[in-house]
Amino acid sequence: ALRQSITPKAQKDKQRSWNHVQPQASYKVAVLGASGGIGQPLALLIKMSPLVSSLHLYDIANVKGVAADLSHCNTPAQVFDFTGASELANSLKGVDVVVIPAGVPRKPGMTRDDLFNVNANIVKGLVEAVADNCPDAFIHIISNPINSTVPIAAEVLKQKGVYDPKKLFGLTTLDVVRANTFVAREKNLRLIDVDVPVIGGHAGITILPLLSKTRPSIAFTDEEVQELTARIQNAGTEVVEAKAGAGSATLSMAYASARFVESSLRALDGDADVYECSYVQSDLTELPFFASRVKLGRKGVEALISSDLNGLTEYEQKSLEALKPELKASIERGIAYAQKQA
Ligand code: NAD
Ligand code: LMR
Repeated sequence: ALRQSITPKAQKDKQRSWNHVQPQASYKVAVLGASGGIGQPLALLIKMSPLVSSLHLYDIANVKGVAADLSHCNTPAQVFDFTGASELANSLKGVDVVVIPAGVPRKPGMTRDDLFNVNANIVKGLVEAVADNCPDAFIHIISNPINSTVPIAAEVLKQKGVYDPKKLFGLTTLDVVRANTFVAREKNLRLIDVDVPVIGGHAGITILPLLSKTRPSIAFTDEEVQELTARIQNAGTEVVEAKAGAGSATLSMAYASARFVESSLRALDGDADVYECSYVQSDLTELPFFASRVKLGRKGVEALISSDLNGLTEYEQKSLEALKPELKASIERGIAYAQKQA
């Protein structure tokens, strides 16, 4: 029942701009890690959304200045600041969507998995607070390694007795944004027309763009497929190396996260044609968490789009099988961590 094919109408509607939204909508969004590299530009983009009435900014430091600065923008959302553990609960009360970009980013030479030891604990603590204060909210996890932090979040929510798998999302939107950009450039297409589903997870070979499912339908040579796939899989590392020790992608991630927030709010607002790729609890493969296209509705994930996995090319099928052991290990690492801490 959780599976549904994407319709051509849905495909068209996906291209619609922010402008169609109803001006009377008013949702509360919290950003945890709001004074960080992602948090600040993300807060700015959310402040621009006509769907948001309250923007709650939480961090362990430096959030007052960010909130004061943002609050002067003449858009409807009211901005509230919350600093430190004693203000975390209040930052979450009544919130519809919680976005979590709190945690340390990579430096050159590191894998996302190298962030596990620090970020697992940060995500665990923040999701416990979400469970206690806004258990019905959509939860967007950005903190890496998301292949493990999302399973950690699920375990924490289960331990608190409030796990709703339809409302827990690992952010893979940046992989789609990158795939769309690189394919449009390579094939000289209008960016607005290009949509590449990206499945699997969000690290190295677990990121699998399904180029054969690109819309509009387009032919790639074997060489193009291999080059584009490698570029999409390594795009995070490309940014980490260019920033040379000053962190990882922040601006493109804020852009991607703002898109996912907007899609979530449109879904909450009753828009029946909202589709995004996300890393969620899944039964599309034997892995308990898997990124695929999902249909979003008022209650979160309404359907997993299974049709993208039909008729894969030989290259995609092999890549899918090759990513499973790594993704499985990352999921198990997250679950084991959360269970050990319980
Ligand atoms: P950053 O260091 O610039 O910002 C992180 C922020 O988190 C800081 O302001 C810090 O004070 C805050 N923080 C730390 N512990 C906290 C806690 N317990 N509660 C609240 N806030 C806390 O890092 P960044 O560049 O913004 O990246 C953040 C995370 O996002 C990293 O883990 C990075 O790997 C990840 N990321 C994910 C994706 C993705 O596609 N999913 C893309 C880019 C970055
Ligand atoms: C990305 O894809 O840019 C993020 O996951 C950050 C990173 O460490 O590469």
